Amino acid sequence: MCGIVGYIGRKEAKPILLNGLSRLEYRGYDSAGIATIESDKIVTIKSLGRVSDLEKATGMDAIKGTLGIGHTRWATHGKPSKENSHPHMDNSNSFAVVHNGIIENYANLKDFLINNGYTFISQTDTEVIPNLIHFHYSQSNETGNKKFIKAVTDTCNMLKGSYALEILANDFPDNMIVVRKDSPLVIGKGQDEKYISSDIPAILSFTKDFYLLNDNEFAFMSRDNIEFFDKGLRPIQKQAQNITWNAGAAEKEGFEDFMLKEIHEQSKSIRETIGSRIQENSLSSLPDLEMTKEYLESVNKIFIIACGTAMHAGYVGKTLIESLCNIPVEVEAASEFRYRNPIINDKTLCLFISQSGETADTIAALKLARFKGARTIAVSNVIGSSISREADYTLYTHAGPEIAVASTKAYTAQIVLLAIIAIHCAEILGINQEKVQELRNDILLLPSQIEEVLKNTNDIKAFAQRVYKEEDMFFIGRGVDYAVALEGSLKLKEISYIHSEAYPSGELKHGPIALIENDVTVISVLTDRLLTEKAISNIQEVVTRGAKTFIVTNQELNHSFDTVINIPKTNVLISPILSVIPLQLLAYYISKEKGLDVDKPRNLAKSVTVE
Ligand code: G6P
Repeated sequence: MCGIVGYIGRKEAKPILLNGLSRLEYRGYDSAGIATIESDKIVTIKSLGRVSDLEKATGMDAIKGTLGIGHTRWATHGKPSKENSHPHMDNSNSFAVVHNGIIENYANLKDFLINNGYTFISQTDTEVIPNLIHFHYSQSNETGNKKFIKAVTDTCNMLKGSYALEILANDFPDNMIVVRKDSPLVIGKGQDEKYISSDIPAILSFTKDFYLLNDNEFAFMSRDNIEFFDKGLRPIQKQAQNITWNAGAAEKEGFEDFMLKEIHEQSKSIRETIGSRIQENSLSSLPDLEMTKEYLESVNKIFIIACGTAMHAGYVGKTLIESLCNIPVEVEAASEFRYRNPIINDKTLCLFISQSGETADTIAALKLARFKGARTIAVSNVIGSSISREADYTLYTHAGPEIAVASTKAYTAQIVLLAIIAIHCAEILGINQEKVQELRNDILLLPSQIEEVLKNTNDIKAFAQRVYKEEDMFFIGRGVDYAVALEGSLKLKEISYIHSEAYPSGELKHGPIALIENDVTVISVLTDRLLTEKAISNIQEVVTRGAKTFIVTNQELNHSFDTVINIPKTNVLISPILSVIPLQLLAYYISKEKGLDVDKPRNLAKSVTVE
């Protein structure tokens, strides 16, 4: 995955690069490095481990340059080591490159370079890039800036795969080139300065004006100028866009961790995602979604495609859309969908959910769906993200930047937006009006109900203290409660490293119940009035076998159970927005009890921009 950051301006680059890298560590933290221009010459400093290790690396004190690039690595090609850390340089130390992505044809390119006398010191795919730039540069007949630019575009024309690159050259100590293809990169615009980053929050404290690059677009920068061009060197006109996120949104603001802060932000993020889309006593408003009754009546299948938590939001979306729009919905992991030749035609509507909008599998699935003739809708939290640029329509969740690797506020914002989409389509179709009206009213109550849920954390904390040493847990639920069970189980795995499985309650008897014995923890979600009796029977079955239970419910239970977390009553279709919160908190407190890094769990990255 990796994160990249850059600065060109009049301030010292080092603190800006280190600050940006530490904010991008959620993208990978195997190693880190920077390159700056010191007295017209490139100097690189790298270190194994985290950005905090890089800060202490030898030579860091002497770095004073006002132009530089930085990288935090999530290893793909080559183990985490200093040699494999970025920035990488060519053999003559004339070019420095940081890279996020994967060069799929690097082995062929390496052979080509070896045949031309180049040698390699790392096992990375990236090291071919500075050497190819050097190869083209040394063969070039061009002069001036064009010589540097052409060497970079010629190089990129040879690369297969994904890349966001920042490139420095000794011969151009006042310039930097950046380019992206299928990996994220944004350029923040300041006064005679530019900030480059893999995402907006990492540089939000410096600027709110951003240039968003499309695939295969290059930027050639000096301190006071920026030129954009395509791979045929044709100039492109670009306007900076103003981003309304506030800088504080990317800070912990008094919370111990980003995850806890983000859990507590859910009332606000739901309120902002609802915005003026749903208002009392009026129809929903989704001006970005141009759907006609004729078109919706022609749709015979909806696919919801996503990864991880976003896919779990999709499961809730399925119930919402099927209940309100009477159209069959299938939810699929993007990594499966993209390789299985799904049956799609112009009567298929595909909805892609991605917080970051940069998940490689989701982007590939979206491209496939478009190629096969489906209409596509993207649901994303990041303005200008890749999926938003690929899809026919984009609807944004307004959750603000989500920094913790484990997704919380984006999930609930995705569900509320899916609910609004379902309502909107049902209104256009003119069906299920009573249900729709009820749901609209219930959605408006959610922000204050979330605040209520967040007031009662003591029992959750106490349960976490009891169970944090356990090795296995089970999550059960029926209908949308099962969707929430899946998400609760994923949260627990991600940040506490406890093995857990989620099952539809009715499936317990078909295998998992064999694993229930004295003191095993079973976590149950119970918000569907119509299924309460059945769900209680399932809980009784595990209690009889000695399980301890943690039940999240908005129903009156006429039995006494171990720990019961009561949440406010709401429409069952949107109950996951409330019922997931105690599960997010349970995973959080268990992780804290275990003394783990909640925001940056091992092996995980927030945005998976490789397959
Ligand atoms: C990674 C993250 C998850 C996230 C998933 C999808 O696995 O660790 O938290 O749910 O990617 O990310 P997206 O940005 O596409 O929603």
